[in-house]
Amino acid sequence: MTIDTTAINQGMTHFDGFDAIWLFGYGSLIWKAGFPYLERRPAYIHGWVRRFWQGSHDHRGTPDAPGRVATLIRKPGAICHGMAYRITPETLGPLDVREKNGYLRLITELHFCNDRDGEQAEGLVYIATEDNAAFLGDAPYHRIAQQIAGAQGPSGPNRDYLLNLATALRELGVDDPHVFELERLLTPSESIKE
Ligand code: BEZ
Repeated sequence: MTIDTTAINQGMTHFDGFDAIWLFGYGSLIWKAGFPYLERRPAYIHGWVRRFWQGSHDHRGTPDAPGRVATLIRKPGAICHGMAYRITPETLGPLDVREKNGYLRLITELHFCNDRDGEQAEGLVYIATEDNAAFLGDAPYHRIAQQIAGAQGPSGPNRDYLLNLATALRELGVDDPHVFELERLLTPSESIKE
């Protein structure tokens, strides 16, 4: 299923004239940027949780066997941890194309971790909302894990995306029960030694 959000995203004028923009990453961006950046800092945003509810027909799956990748779902009072990148505006163009399968830019307040002054900045985050055609939504954990286990696309196995994200979150000291439960279901348990 393809819906192209590139034109909508490139119509955003909010950061016109800025030399640099903060971009908040909560999925693959946490462990792999894939673009040049000026600065990278652990950060969090308020009011969202990470969920593997977005279908991926172009990166971690195919139209016949879509994978599942992360999006953010609104939850009052929640905090979502991730990685913030300070980028030049030119970097957004290729990102809009890369994330064209349902992700829209949203302006958000970023809070930087390990900062005694509680420093924050206005920035951008890409979110796939439930009204996009590739949105899959919730399902029982074993079904989500099954779908991830069976999917791969041009960017590699869907399983690697999930496991890399779980590892990166652990390294950041972030607890994300949704991601860690999927990791558990996707990791064969060690064989019992006699
Ligand atoms: C991310 O990894 O945070 C991400 C980036 C673009 C679209 C969706 C997620």
